[in-house]
Amino acid sequence: MEDAVRMLQHTDFTICAWDGERLIGFGRVLTDFVYRATIWDVIVDRAYQGRGIGTEIVTRILHHPQLERVELFWLCTRRPGFYERLGFSSKEQTGMVWNRSKNSRLE
Ligand SMILES: CC(C)(COP(=O)(O)OP(=O)(O)OC[C@H]1O[C@@H](n2cnc3c(N)ncnc32)[C@H](O)[C@@H]1OP(=O)(O)O)[C@@H](O)C(=O)NCCC(=O)NCCS
Repeated sequence: MEDAVRMLQHTDFTICAWDGERLIGFGRVLTDFVYRATIWDVIVDRAYQGRGIGTEIVTRILHHPQLERVELFWLCTRRPGFYERLGFSSKEQTGMVWNRSKNSRLE
């Protein structure tokens, strides 16, 4: 919980979907608000999936007035099909990852 609170405090932009008081969808963005933004943790409650909520979360991020100047949005996903429908491409950029737990023996 402490880590989640710290993460949210230092996140530039969050979007939530609610059913009454129940949180059913979430997405967040780290960005400089001009050149680059990364989208993280897009997730919809299993019971609410397949109703367009995930699409709405990503669409609202891409077109939100606070983010409308951002030139490039990045994300990492194991589900490229969902994002390809929304116009994302994996052909233009090559992502690389440095994972602290996997590299700890090098430190
Ligand atoms: C991926 C996820 C966010 C999609 O949310 P959702 O609310 O179910 O998505 P939508 O209802 O907006 O789906 C829109 C369309 O994408 C399709 N879709 C959903 N997941 C897909 C996938 N993995 N690959 C291809 N298409 C997918 C749906 O079939 C639907 O198509 P349709 O409009 O032709 O029927 C949701 O399934 C989820 O939370 N998954 C677990 C967490 C996760 O994997 N997040 C990915 C971020 S890294």
